Amino acid sequence: MGNNNENIQRRTEEDGVIFMSVKSDAENQVKPSDDKDITILAIESSCDETAAAVVRNGREVLSNIISSQIALHTIYGGVVPEIASRKHVEKINGCVRAALSEAGCTLDDIDAIAVTYGPGLVGALLVGVSEAKALSFATGKPLVGVHHIEGHICANYIEYKELEPPFMCLVASGGHSHLVYVKDYGVYDIIGQTRDDAAGEAFDKVARAIGLGYPGGPKVDAAARQGNPDAISFPRAKTSEKSYDFSFSGLKSAVLNYLNQAEMKGEEVNKNDVAASFQKAVVDVLTEHTMEAAKEYGCKKIAIAGGVASNTSLRERLQSECEKQGIAFFRPSPVLCTDNAAMIGAAGYYEFLKGNTMGMDLNAVPNLPLGDRERRYHGRSSK
Ligand code: KG4
Ligand code: ZN
Repeated sequence: MGNNNENIQRRTEEDGVIFMSVKSDAENQVKPSDDKDITILAIESSCDETAAAVVRNGREVLSNIISSQIALHTIYGGVVPEIASRKHVEKINGCVRAALSEAGCTLDDIDAIAVTYGPGLVGALLVGVSEAKALSFATGKPLVGVHHIEGHICANYIEYKELEPPFMCLVASGGHSHLVYVKDYGVYDIIGQTRDDAAGEAFDKVARAIGLGYPGGPKVDAAARQGNPDAISFPRAKTSEKSYDFSFSGLKSAVLNYLNQAEMKGEEVNKNDVAASFQKAVVDVLTEHTMEAAKEYGCKKIAIAGGVASNTSLRERLQSECEKQGIAFFRPSPVLCTDNAAMIGAAGYYEFLKGNTMGMDLNAVPNLPLGDRERRYHGRSSK
């Protein structure tokens, strides 16, 4: 299995914006059946990363430019939508130019332009959508709209050239926690989703409460490595016996109550223990639901996606459970789990093959549901 996406070069750092460049190897690439290479220029700007990539045949990353705004938002303790949109406007042309030049391409070599059009922050999405529409209009190249979560799922195709549907995918990011049965390329059954906070949101809120700051996920992950995961017993929410849905707001409140009570009693809190115990509660629920869903659906393949999929403990737990049960486990490199445009190029490729292109009326859809073309929602046992 190819794990060749660790090659991150930090290119420049200016006013808190870090440029990264990540490429995958060109070996063992899967080609489309008609043998014609398809090269996609992909754009992502749904939250706080401005990103552009060039992807060939859905799986070969020729360039992957990410301009991260994390340092910029850190001083505010979270993403400020207005600042994010302005930064996207400043950075997007540079990212697209860098992606083309690093891939050794010009716009003439591009077959289609793929862009995230939802879900996400509307102002942020609009920057990418407008850029893609302008490029499509100017070049006459087809425009492909991509669902952000679909992009996260497709990051697995970049890392694992041999992976094909069907498989079970846990998607856990700052805005979403979904259990998705990937039936075929672009065909998804959502079998569970969060009823309240997303897993990443819970990480971010707990990190803020224990004073670790933003972005919460990686900071809780690091603190948890120094703490005792069994120090504090936090609740694991079960929405119902018949559901794969998640709920993290009760857990978040339990952490806040624990911190408030300790403060009232004048007791010192061990932040590392709180981080480790909270993280264990999240990882337990995510792992349990994913393993049960795979069992019920008879899946021999489990994949993970989204920012929370870069969590060390979640990766280890799922790896060990999958090994015990003889299930193949797919976990993209952390840089492909968090937001990037290569994953949008991968998802865009499969949409393009199906002929799903968009017109100049493409708009940002901040609450776009997953699989809006073939959307189904099933509870447990209703396969
Ligand atoms: O997928 P992503 O980059 O953006 C969204 O689409 O939301 O996910 C960002 C989320 C944030 O909530 C961040 O705290 C979380 O992923 N995250 C992590 C880790 N790295 C990022 N959560 C837990 N452990 C991590 N190592
Ligand atoms: Zn994301």
